[in-house]
Amino acid sequence: MQIAFAALELPKSGAVAFLVEKDKPLTGLAAEADSQTGGAISKAISASRFNGSSGQTLEVLAPSGLATERVLLVGVGESDKLSAQDWLETGAAITASLLGSGSSEVSIIADANGTDVVSIAEGALMRSYRFDKYRTKEPESKKPTLKKVSIASSASDASKTFEARKAVIDGVFFTRDLISEPANILYPESFADRIGELKELGVDVEVLGEAEMSKLGMGALLGVGQGSVRESKLAIMTWNGGGKGDAPISFVGKGVTFDTGGISLKPGEGMEQMKWDMGGAGTVVGLMKALAGRKAKVNVVAVVGLVENMPDGNAQRPGDVVTSMSGQTIEILNTDAEGRLVLADALWYTQDRFKPKMMIDLATLTGAIIITLGHEHAGIFTDNEEIAAQLSKAGLETGDKVWRLPLHKNYDKMIDCQVADMKNIGGRPAGSITAAQFLRRFTNDVPWCHIDIAGTVWSDKDLPLSEKGGTGYGVRLLDRFVAENYEG
Ligand code: BES
Ligand code: MN
Ligand code: ZN
Repeated sequence: MQIAFAALELPKSGAVAFLVEKDKPLTGLAAEADSQTGGAISKAISASRFNGSSGQTLEVLAPSGLATERVLLVGVGESDKLSAQDWLETGAAITASLLGSGSSEVSIIADANGTDVVSIAEGALMRSYRFDKYRTKEPESKKPTLKKVSIASSASDASKTFEARKAVIDGVFFTRDLISEPANILYPESFADRIGELKELGVDVEVLGEAEMSKLGMGALLGVGQGSVRESKLAIMTWNGGGKGDAPISFVGKGVTFDTGGISLKPGEGMEQMKWDMGGAGTVVGLMKALAGRKAKVNVVAVVGLVENMPDGNAQRPGDVVTSMSGQTIEILNTDAEGRLVLADALWYTQDRFKPKMMIDLATLTGAIIITLGHEHAGIFTDNEEIAAQLSKAGLETGDKVWRLPLHKNYDKMIDCQVADMKNIGGRPAGSITAAQFLRRFTNDVPWCHIDIAGTVWSDKDLPLSEKGGTGYGVRLLDRFVAENYEG
């Protein structure tokens, strides 16, 4: 989808969208268009339930007297109370209504004071994403027609500001692409190849295979992948946009390209969803694309553990004991609690090699987080008050919301073990928290935060900013978090 910023005037073709405030008369160019149609637009409003409430839309087709194919009225509510998120959703609502309408262009008239034109553009672009590469028989009549969105306003520097946001959305789209791919296409090696695309943006990419990880002693990660015919990989991305020699910040992602549960096999129903169990890694990779794309002034390293969790004659068994890179031993009581095993070695490796200022890991780690927070917030777990506050703020600003859950030594005790240094499950109570406590044992006390995104990376229904499918959750959150706290 092409996004453009244009001068404030009525378009001569395509569709036109007007933003209408709640219970207010049409003003500016909307009023002008109404009078050119001899009052057809206001007549349509009075014939309908449309009153400008936020989220409402009303379409008027081919009004005579106007050069445009259609008029779309979009309710914005009370415009002086709108947040960036509201403007984002307004832009997205316009794309959603017109994507398959037959119109190929829309001009959004944004002439009210205080209209956030950049967020409108951002939302319009975000909602245009579709993952349709495997649909070979979609009828022409169902295919999207909208190709271009222009935002007509008197703002002067919108395209400059939008450039950086656009780079971030490219990152979001990359994450959605990765999450949407089926596991026969996206497996550790092919995932690592996709990560190689970031080199074009100046990101350094290094990929370790099983032999190298074995030498490093990554018994926890390797145990998860040992039942798969696909070779496990560890991909390391470095972006040096900050001061020479400055310690980097770091992001670590769970990249289980398919999670059958292993020998502790998951039930069949819904198992296809486990193709997006690489969502943590997908988000970290999209974030790196965003940061490099907008040339962020910061040093960042990202590490993703890429494995497939399969049942097999060579798969690990419940009761097996593995030794992690940290030297700590783990009794595997459930092979389906595999994400923490992958992250254990990825986290240890990251702090050991890069001595980062802080580490944030992302993972579709537990079903329990969905029971706790549903699909609205991701769960964050940290001992660091500053990181918690910074992430919460970035969450509110971007709409990628987070909610903090506790860590405590009493939860940590729940994974103590008789046979080894710890066990990989803590029982049903507080399942997301004991998983986080497990990860904490591999951070070597580097400032750290774990984000459980199991409830937010995928949506079974259309959302304001994304169609059913991968959401790209977390890319904009962390991009904002980095911009606000670690740049310049
Ligand atoms: N990948 C799953 C978590 C998950 C479940 C993500 C549903 C998204 C939707 C993870 O590897 C897993 O299986 N966790 C187990 C842990 C349990 C065995 C302690 C779970 O949540 O049931
Ligand atoms: Mn699992
Ligand atoms: Zn998993």
